[in-house]
Amino acid sequence: MMQENNLEEKTMDEGRQGEALIIEGQTNGKRKLYIESYGCQMNFSDSEIVASILDKQGYETTGNMEEADLVLLNTCSIRDKAEQTVRNRLANFNTIKKERPDMRIGVLGCMAERVKSKLLDEEKLVDLVVGPDAYRDLPNLLEELDEGRKAVNVILSKEETYDNIEPVRLGGNGITAFISIMRGCDNMCTFCVVPFTRGRERSRDPQTILEEVIDLRDRGYKEITLLGQNVDSYLWYGGGLKKDFDKASDMAKATAVSFADLLGKVAETAPEMRIRFSTSNPQDMTDDVLHAIAKYDNICNYIHLPFQSGSSRVLELMNRGHTREQYLDLIRRVRTIIPDCGISHDIIAGFPTETEEDHQETLSLMKEVQFDFGYMFFYSERPNTYAERKMEDDVPLEVKKRRLREIIEQQNRDGQARMERFVGTEQVVLVEGFSKKSDQDLFGRNDQNSVVVFPKEDYRAGDLVRVKVNSCTSATMIGEAIELVRR
Ligand code: 5AD
Ligand code: SF4
Repeated sequence: MMQENNLEEKTMDEGRQGEALIIEGQTNGKRKLYIESYGCQMNFSDSEIVASILDKQGYETTGNMEEADLVLLNTCSIRDKAEQTVRNRLANFNTIKKERPDMRIGVLGCMAERVKSKLLDEEKLVDLVVGPDAYRDLPNLLEELDEGRKAVNVILSKEETYDNIEPVRLGGNGITAFISIMRGCDNMCTFCVVPFTRGRERSRDPQTILEEVIDLRDRGYKEITLLGQNVDSYLWYGGGLKKDFDKASDMAKATAVSFADLLGKVAETAPEMRIRFSTSNPQDMTDDVLHAIAKYDNICNYIHLPFQSGSSRVLELMNRGHTREQYLDLIRRVRTIIPDCGISHDIIAGFPTETEEDHQETLSLMKEVQFDFGYMFFYSERPNTYAERKMEDDVPLEVKKRRLREIIEQQNRDGQARMERFVGTEQVVLVEGFSKKSDQDLFGRNDQNSVVVFPKEDYRAGDLVRVKVNSCTSATMIGEAIELVRR
């Protein structure tokens, strides 16, 4: 039985969202940087950009906070709980700082804009505050710190995509890597703080994305995930915001690169690598993306497709830009165009005014789709969002928690059923490392992004292995290796 207080968020695929990643590193007398990241994969990817910028300033990463000259916390604002976690960490850091007053503490990422004056002035918890679009300014900001001033830059940009910064790959397994392809989000879902913390949607030059793909390929990486808050909205026409595309020249329009185009280019550039992407939104996903997935063998058959609520009434209040029927219709097209595609979701329980009937519609949509796994949350009011300004957070906490529990139970049943379809089959698994439970077992994922564990024999991380699946739980397949497909 799950603890009540753990119920705010629950993922079916542990370790992918909401956990902190603490970067290990080596030290050699340079200044030492300790960086901890929270929240979504974009934040983890941004920390690699920050490490790259600071590397050029003579900072080397360390996994030991106590010896760090600069401690950075890359923060998330998506739910209140994430912010609480960051506040607790800052309190810890400040205890250490009492022993080491020369240590500098900085807050990066989504919380920066919201809490800058509070953290800097009122609570005096940090020396440095840098928003997600201002990392190039870090060298100047650090100079200000050296001169004894507090430093802050939280300006959001309409252009910044960090396109020419080669990330320092942090804390990874050397097998799977992330490439950020766009930043920000223009969708304005009424519950979501992202448009305020990360600003306007902008796409990165495909040429620099392909260069990063080639670099990773040449360094032996085997899988790339293209990242963005809303990847389907990717559109490159020589720079500029998507909303201004209509005003672009005919030439720019004719040579524009859509997300489906980009997927094709990436797949062709690295035919031996697995290509994944996240996050998709139903209101922006087009069939040409589905056709690209179907066309290229190396684009994995897996889509993360949040739907948030099964009730069209609630979806409208959320300003999602799609109804229940449109979502189900999209799922039907996914199933037709990409047979046996893995599909996961995000769901919010207890959005303002959500009734028991609305909640039942969420459960019935889940039953109808049969998701492989998902990320489930109860509604948490976020400052400045439309919902916070105009709607009453009127579903009692106990009701939100109970509905979330029912959603999780439904997902556990569906996940088990989905996993069982693999039992008795052979799956091609990209090995990512040792299983959490035993160093005699390896773990990896199949094409559909489901986890497979099997005895290691002579196989190792980075191998593509054909595995016979013998049994499963609701989130893991257990099998045995048949043969090496590729090393
Ligand atoms: N409360 C609860 N969950 C939220 N999410 C975004 N904003 C909120 C909020 N205010 C969830 C959505 C989104 C995922 C990244 O986080 O499900 O898809
Ligand atoms: Fe937030 Fe909606 Fe944009 Fe996702 S699509 S980041 S939920 S505003």
